[in-house]
Amino acid sequence: MRHKILVTGGAGYIGSHTALALLQAGYDVIVIDNLSNSSKVSLERVGEIAGRNPLFIEGDLRDAALVNQIFNDHPIESVLHFAALKSVEESVREPLRYFENNLVSTMTLCQAMANANVFNLVFSSSAVVYGAPSIVPIAEHHPTGQTTNPYGRSKFMIEQMLADLAEADPRWKIAILRYFNPVGAHPNGLIGEDPNGMPNNLVPYICRVAVGTLAELKIFGNDYPTADGTGVRDYIHVLDLADGHLSALDAIRKSGGTHIWNLGTGQGNSVLEVLREFEDISGRPIPYKIAPRRPGDIATCFADVSKAERELGWKAKYTLNEMLRDAWKWQSTNPLGYK
Ligand code: NAD
Ligand code: UFG
Repeated sequence: MRHKILVTGGAGYIGSHTALALLQAGYDVIVIDNLSNSSKVSLERVGEIAGRNPLFIEGDLRDAALVNQIFNDHPIESVLHFAALKSVEESVREPLRYFENNLVSTMTLCQAMANANVFNLVFSSSAVVYGAPSIVPIAEHHPTGQTTNPYGRSKFMIEQMLADLAEADPRWKIAILRYFNPVGAHPNGLIGEDPNGMPNNLVPYICRVAVGTLAELKIFGNDYPTADGTGVRDYIHVLDLADGHLSALDAIRKSGGTHIWNLGTGQGNSVLEVLREFEDISGRPIPYKIAPRRPGDIATCFADVSKAERELGWKAKYTLNEMLRDAWKWQSTNPLGYK
């Protein structure tokens, strides 16, 4: 029998790419998503690429009756928990909505898992938990918790909650994956990132400028202490990230307790480097202007990925060029996303 994996938030950007990787690796996939920031078309496309469909349950993770029912109805072996609200800027305006959604959904999920004796969990955390790093590259043991916004605090609080769960009951096997900056799309252009409304993140914003739905990029600050003054980040291809989840899942099956792994490339690139590379790939000029720094932004952030390499045998393979090529393929073939 194939192992059944529950993927929360599986209609979203990273969840859909990971659901595909799971199907391709031979798992059966059940997705729960309330479609608050996604479209079920993503899952239809996942099914098209994989040649078999994930089972899609449209619903909210905070609905305890529904989540318990899913575990009663299906022999789920492990859970990959992507579902969350993720806009930093929105979280500053609506902190309660962020804490409520992200914390209550995780608590409801963990309770339903424990009720069903399912203890394998992979959680989507973020480099945001490191706050402003005092040194780079950032390793997993570096200080966390100095986060500057409610979204980041919700991730940090969940990390602590999961560590307490694992401490209280050794049956829990938990992987906390701290993503750096996921970008790109499946190279076939069928699935990709389709943010609702105005994109917050650099690459989706550039894509929309290139496709003509936004006029120009605002570069948030060119006076950072970096080589060209613009912010430096560790961009990672979403396919590498998806692959990292499969490696983490394999690893926690073999050992108990809580593990934390950074998922990044270990390389930093500046906003201007990303912009120039994108212009080369797309052949389209990206008009931009320098704007004030974005509150809460940091100068430089990139990962020490040696722990994931050593313990998971996982390493990011795709280059920045490939990430931007695939982001552009997705955006140019789907100028309106899934709409
Ligand atoms: P996304 O918004 O595309 O996907 C999240 C999905 O969760 C969406 O489909 C949304 O509809 C669903 N969802 C939200 N709340 C839900 C609820 N209560 N019940 C059911 N479904 C719900 O975001 P993504 O970029 O794919 O991010 C996935 C995870 O990775 C999130 O936890 C996010 O915080 C984390 N993360 C993302 C990034 C990034 O830059 N994309 C970086 C670090 C961490
Ligand atoms: N940037 C611009 N203009 C834009 C958007 C971004 O200049 O329109 C710059 C930012 O200032 C930053 C870089 O591009 O220097 C990357 O910004 P993103 O918004 O793409 O990514 P962040 O590193 O700010 O945020 C990401 C995730 C967050 C997560 C954070 C912490 O999107 O969810 O990493 O690791 F919290």
